[in-house]
Amino acid sequence: MASHPVILGVGGGIAAYKAAELARALMERGCTVQPVMTDAAREFIQPLTFAALTGQKVITGLFGVRTSDEVLASSIDHIRVAQENALLIVAPATADLLAKFASGLAGDFLSTLYLAFEGPVLLCPAMNTAMWNHPATQANVEILRKRGHHILPPDSGPLACGTVGAGRLPDPPRIADFAIRLLTQKHDLDCETILITAGPTRELLDPVRFISNRSSGKMGYAMAEAAATRGARVILVSGPVQLTPPEGVEVVPVQTAVEMRDAVLAHLDAATVIIKTAAVADYYVAAVPTHKVKKTAMRFSLELEPTPDILAEVGRRKKDQLLIGFAAETENVVAEARRKLLAKNCDMVVANNVSADGTGFESDDNEVVLVTRDASPIALPRASKRALADQILDQALQVRLSLHP
Ligand code: PMT
Repeated sequence: MASHPVILGVGGGIAAYKAAELARALMERGCTVQPVMTDAAREFIQPLTFAALTGQKVITGLFGVRTSDEVLASSIDHIRVAQENALLIVAPATADLLAKFASGLAGDFLSTLYLAFEGPVLLCPAMNTAMWNHPATQANVEILRKRGHHILPPDSGPLACGTVGAGRLPDPPRIADFAIRLLTQKHDLDCETILITAGPTRELLDPVRFISNRSSGKMGYAMAEAAATRGARVILVSGPVQLTPPEGVEVVPVQTAVEMRDAVLAHLDAATVIIKTAAVADYYVAAVPTHKVKKTAMRFSLELEPTPDILAEVGRRKKDQLLIGFAAETENVVAEARRKLLAKNCDMVVANNVSADGTGFESDDNEVVLVTRDASPIALPRASKRALADQILDQALQVRLSLHP
C-alpha cells in the first residue's frame, strides 16, 4: 500500500480523544501520521497515546523539551515537517485555531506549521454550537474556505457541553476516507467554487399535495462528489432527494423552483462554475390554498403559471463564470440542447436522452452528449453517473481554457 505522509494537528477540545481514533483510521488507510498537539490539546489527552498509536515523536511546542524525550520532540524544525508531509489535517479545529489560521498568528508550533505548509489543508471544526454559529467563527471559516482549504463541517447531535446542535467532530473513519480522497485524486479544481443544482423541485398544490418529477438527484450528487473530490468548494442546491450528500459539500436544501432560484442567486457571485443538473418544475400554482382541497364528484382543474427559468436568469447575470446546463430530451436531443445553449447563454449543455432504458432519470448510469458553441458535439457513452461526472468536468475545463486561454 502507498504510504501517505500526513500531519495530524490536534486542538484543545473535548473531541481531542477522537483524534486518537483518527490517527488509527489514517494509518489503516496507508498513512504515516505525524501528530502535533497544542498545549490545550494536552489538557485533554496525553501525547503518549499518539506516540504509541503512530510510532512517531509527538510535536507539542516550538521551544524546549516539556516532559519526556520519548514522546516530545520540541525543537523539530517546522519547515522540515511542512515539507515532508502531503496533507495537514487539523481535528478538532477549535474556534481558537480557526481564528489563528485565518489571521496568520503563529504563536505555537501548529499555527507556525500551518503558515509554513504549502500543501492541501483539511480542517475539521468541533466546538459548542453557539461558538460554531458565532459570526466571528463563521467569518474565519469563510476566510479559510476562500483560501482553498477543505472544511469538513461539524455534525449535529448531543454535545459534551449538554446542548444539542452542530459542533460534533465527524466520525474518524469519514474524516480518514475524505483525507485519502484528497491525497489520491487529481486536484485540478482546487481554486474553484462550483455551484450545482440537483434533484427535482416540488410545487405545492395545497398543504398536502404537490407536482414533481422523476429526478432522483443521482446525476447532480455525482457531479458534486466528483467536483469536491478534485478539490473544489462545492455548493449543492438540492431539491428533495433520498441521498446522503457527498463529504465536504455545502448543501442548501430547497423544495420549490422559487426557493431554488433564490438559493442559486444568493450563491451566484461566489461561484466560478455553475452546473444546473436539477429537473426544475416548469409550472407551479401561484396561489396555493392554505387548506387541503376537498375531494368532490366534480372535475377539478388547476391554473398553473410558469416557474422562473433559473438557467436563463443565470445566463443573463453571469460575468466570466462558466455556465453548464443540462437538457432532458426525448427527441431531437442535440438540436434541442443547442437551442437551449444559445437561448440561455450557456457555455456547455449536457444533452440527456431521457427516453432510453437504464439511463436518464433514477438510474445509476447515464449516456449524454456534450454540446458547446464551437466544437462538434461529444458523445459520452453509457457509464456510471459518477464516471460521467468526471468526464463532464474534464470537458468543462477544456471549454474554459478555450474561452480564457
Ligand atoms: O436526478 P437523476 O434521477 O439522476 O436524473 C438526472 C436528470 C435526467 C434529471 C439530469 O441528467 C438532467 O437531464 N437534468 C436536466 C433536467 C431538466 O429539467 O431539463 P430541461 O431541459 O427541462 O431544462 C434545461 C435546463 O434548464 C436544466 O439545466 C434545468 O436545470 C434548467 N431549468 C429548467 C426549468 C427552470 N424553470 N429553470 C431552470 O433552470
